[in-house]
Amino acid sequence: MMPSAKDQAVVLLARYPEGMPQPSDFALAREAIPTPAADQVMLRTLYLSLDPYLRPLLAGRHLGQRPELGAVMPGQAVAEVIECPSGILPIGSHVVAETGWREYTCVPVHGLRALGAEVQPLSTALGVLGLPGLTAWAGMGYIAAPKAGDTVLVSSAAGAVGSVAGQLAQLAGARVVGIVGSAQKQRIVMEEFGFDACVNYRSDDFSASLRAACPEGIDVYFDNVGGAVLEAALGLLRRHARIVLCGLMDQYNRDSRPPGPNLGPVIAARARMQGLVVYDYLDRIDMFRTEIASLLHAGKLRYRETISEGLAGTPAAFAALMRGDNLGKALVRVGA
Ligand SMILES: NC(=O)c1ccc[n+]([C@@H]2O[C@H](COP(=O)([O-])OP(=O)(O)OC[C@H]3O[C@@H](n4cnc5c(N)ncnc54)[C@H](OP(=O)(O)O)[C@@H]3O)[C@@H](O)[C@H]2O)c1
Repeated sequence: MMPSAKDQAVVLLARYPEGMPQPSDFALAREAIPTPAADQVMLRTLYLSLDPYLRPLLAGRHLGQRPELGAVMPGQAVAEVIECPSGILPIGSHVVAETGWREYTCVPVHGLRALGAEVQPLSTALGVLGLPGLTAWAGMGYIAAPKAGDTVLVSSAAGAVGSVAGQLAQLAGARVVGIVGSAQKQRIVMEEFGFDACVNYRSDDFSASLRAACPEGIDVYFDNVGGAVLEAALGLLRRHARIVLCGLMDQYNRDSRPPGPNLGPVIAARARMQGLVVYDYLDRIDMFRTEIASLLHAGKLRYRETISEGLAGTPAAFAALMRGDNLGKALVRVGA
């Protein structure tokens, strides 16, 4: 659908967040709708992806470039191709692209691929069939390699990455224990995602409940949070345990990096810790999508999405993600 107006809504970075991001760190504005150059494609944003990495990006503590004040916020989206002068992508096809927090954008056509028919609904291209799903699949498949009889512990277990990581470990025959921040998430992780146990890291008896949920220790820890939760998990390591260092939710909203956990238990358990960067697995995305789409189709994998409505609500939805209000993948419906 071609735009009927000449300008569009965008969300700018008004100031760098201090601590927890606030909606007032961002500002709504209007900017001209660009026209595509010969080697570009014009896209209409359908669903915008909200991702935790944006918070360390704003703090200048991420692999990517820190956005300038006053710039349109970066971010990935599922978008519809509405103009493509080169004819490389069909009008009306869908892609995942870096659009930023805006309604329309023009980006280079090279490097974009139309989404296949297996990516349905389209929003899943940003969640279970997108980078969060790929992260879980790669971390479990290539680093943790759980097997029958293992106990696998997953933090942020109700989130986009954690919910898939835990279910994949379970499909490999492991006993899976989740860690989350609320009683509602505990219930969903066990009843909907089928984890064997789930504990709340905000409860007073967290350490005791975690030990009780993993009576024989853990063979795998898939870490999405770092901090005190990582330290508690290290106390449960069995010999030759594998730790996937995936994310650091516990420190993204802090203004400085806290002191690291005590790594003595890693030595005692002869454990292996490995950092995971999803971009290293992008060349396997077709294999990943085929496998995960077939699990979804067979009803063997479940996912959740938390979808906010409208570009104007993106700052509040991002703040909510960083507070932990989301269940599964956090998205904003912009033009779908
Ligand atoms: N390495 C990679 O290439 C890669 C790629 C994608 C994502 N990641 C990382 O994977 C992690 C999960 O990403 P996601 O997109 O799936 O987000 P998510 O888990 O859907 O959302 C983040 C969740 O983190 C939890 N959380 C917030 N503060 C916490 C704290 N202090 N301690 C423990 N949990 C906390 C919240 O749930 P609770 O209510 O349970 O607290 C919140 O819902 C993030 O750390 C992200 O940076 C890494």
